[in-house]
Amino acid sequence: MDTAVTFPEQFRWLVAGITGSGKSYFVGWLAEQLYEQDRKWIILDTDPKNHIGLIALRRVKLLKIKPGLTYDWWKVAEMENPLLVIPTEGFLRRNGVSSLIEHYKTLLDVLFAARNPVVVFIEEAHYYQKHPYVPDKTLELLARVGRKYRINPVYITQRIQDFPKIIWSNCSRTYIFKWTIPQDVKYIRSMIPDFEHLNRELQRYDVLEFEHASGEIRIIPSWAIRRRTRHYG
Ligand SMILES: Nc1ncnc2c1ncn2[C@@H]1O[C@H](COP(=O)(O)OP(=O)(O)OP(=O)(O)O)[C@@H](O)[C@H]1O
Ligand SMILES: [Mg+2]
Repeated sequence: MDTAVTFPEQFRWLVAGITGSGKSYFVGWLAEQLYEQDRKWIILDTDPKNHIGLIALRRVKLLKIKPGLTYDWWKVAEMENPLLVIPTEGFLRRNGVSSLIEHYKTLLDVLFAARNPVVVFIEEAHYYQKHPYVPDKTLELLARVGRKYRINPVYITQRIQDFPKIIWSNCSRTYIFKWTIPQDVKYIRSMIPDFEHLNRELQRYDVLEFEHASGEIRIIPSWAIRRRTRHYG
């Protein structure tokens, strides 16, 4: 079986799985492959350590969000290097995750306007909206017209029912791990036909690839997902 991931010129993806299912490990693996292909990416993480192993890759830069500082997002948008953005422990303690998300929304707006090609990994994407029926304006814009603007979002979430369906249905591909919450499995079935059956086939850390336009399905087995850099999740 072919286990390679293809990266089209333009895409919008969702990576979904319950907590501990292997989302961030997989996202790091995608980032490593994009790095090999010389494509720029930005990871917006909500955890200080999770993706830190990626800075072992020579060209990857690290930006720490600290309390009381302002950032030149245009400079960030114009950078050529892949970039990992993380909060410090102090920022999370003092300002909280919602304040971090406000920073990230501003960066996404600027990236959108800058129109430089980039893949943006958005960890904990369900945090970006106050309510699943009211998608966040920035995320919705990315999902709807992002393809013209060369910004390729990868939304990552563990709370599938809190992630706006309108954004999910605008995605070109979904990567999903084994799900163990029955109500969620039913919900996922409304987007991925036969998910109940497919879910039974999935082993730990395996990921199901679903191509929205064609309905094509493929399982990437866990053994094929091999990281070069260390994962701290
Ligand atoms: N393909 C794999 N092979 C071996 N170990 C894996 C694989 N995928 C993930 N793991 C391990 O499983 C654990 C959880 O993975 P990960 O941090 O990616 O989960 P997650 O879905 O991002 O969880 P959370 O929702 O809490 O962020 C980690 O210790 C990771 O090293
Ligand atoms: Mg994670």
